[in-house]
Amino acid sequence: MHLTREQEKMLQGEYGWATAKAMEIIIKVGEAMGAEELVEIVHAHISGISYSTIGKYGAEFIRDIVLRGGKVRVFTTVNPGCIDYSGLSHVIDNSLIEYQRLIDEPLREAGVKPVYTCIPYFYRAPLPGEHLAWGESSAVVFANSIYGGFTNREGGPVALAAALTGYTYKAGLQLLENRVGVIEVKVNARTLSMPIGALGLWMGECVKATPFIRGLRNTQLDYLKNMLASAAASGNHALVIVDGFTPRDTFRLELTERIEPEVEVLEDYLGDECTGSRVLGYLGCPHTSPWELLLITRFVKRYGKPKRGKLLVTIPAEFTRIYRDLVLELKAMGVDIASGTCPVVSQFKEKFDCVLTNSGKALFYLRRIHRVRVKLASVREIVKHLSGV
Ligand code: F3S
Repeated sequence: MHLTREQEKMLQGEYGWATAKAMEIIIKVGEAMGAEELVEIVHAHISGISYSTIGKYGAEFIRDIVLRGGKVRVFTTVNPGCIDYSGLSHVIDNSLIEYQRLIDEPLREAGVKPVYTCIPYFYRAPLPGEHLAWGESSAVVFANSIYGGFTNREGGPVALAAALTGYTYKAGLQLLENRVGVIEVKVNARTLSMPIGALGLWMGECVKATPFIRGLRNTQLDYLKNMLASAAASGNHALVIVDGFTPRDTFRLELTERIEPEVEVLEDYLGDECTGSRVLGYLGCPHTSPWELLLITRFVKRYGKPKRGKLLVTIPAEFTRIYRDLVLELKAMGVDIASGTCPVVSQFKEKFDCVLTNSGKALFYLRRIHRVRVKLASVREIVKHLSGV
């Protein structure tokens, strides 16, 4: 691995123990990935900070690094924790609050921006060709595919190490030569009439090389966010080239195959039959954008308060402050809001028989983590179902 003088100094401890340790991690991972040098990053996003997910040992790793002098050198954001930071939710269990603090406090001390969200691009949208070190598969695939940022799909410790040094290894999707679309996926109008999470889940499972998607030019960014997150959950995708969205000069095409998924195939990805009386509607995986919050508000006003179950919406931690009026309006209409978390990285206060969600990623994980039946539906269908219309 070729290191610059500054990188050498970091490795030798001239910038302190924590930076040296972080540099060691980056170099080890880089060597395993075949990197010959490191690259400067402009934004790190650290995933895996929920106590519910990483537990005592993960918390100790973070505390140790920070208490021994770790400070971030670039703009750094963090993924959701395991508690509702607003304290407004009746659905999310906040009993691990003291344990989550063991992680949050040192991270803040290290200089991390405490956004607790999986949509860090809301705070700083990457520019095409910018190098990033992001954890959180849904954010990574969105950064690469929609903004043309360059990031690999990092684990939490590597993203933290990159934040502390300001560098990551130059390999994988950090190199233009590896950003190559191989399989053309043609999306037709019938397919688009289905919940888009199903398309994402199918793509993750069935398309084994980088896809190039045609047919989504008129699709809303929030639908793409959902589809890409679903594809990254059921598969390994970190880059999906979307015709009309992925910036030029951030990818190449060498197409060898063409697929057109049919509705009948995607129906297999719609999830379980939703039976039982304890139903939860869940929106906000990935976290809702302001536009989605407005859409949900409009539907709840039109169809009425949730009566046949609860409706949970998850948002970035700061949204309770920035969009206070909207959040309070939704609360007043009986919608449960949790900020800075989501049910995949936290616990429910109660048991549900079935979850209705618009998110393929939520379907993928909630079934496994909470052992609950999950069904995909559109935002409108979910609100209508819960309102009893
Ligand atoms: Fe975000 Fe949680 Fe979904 S972290 S992408 S809302 S699983």
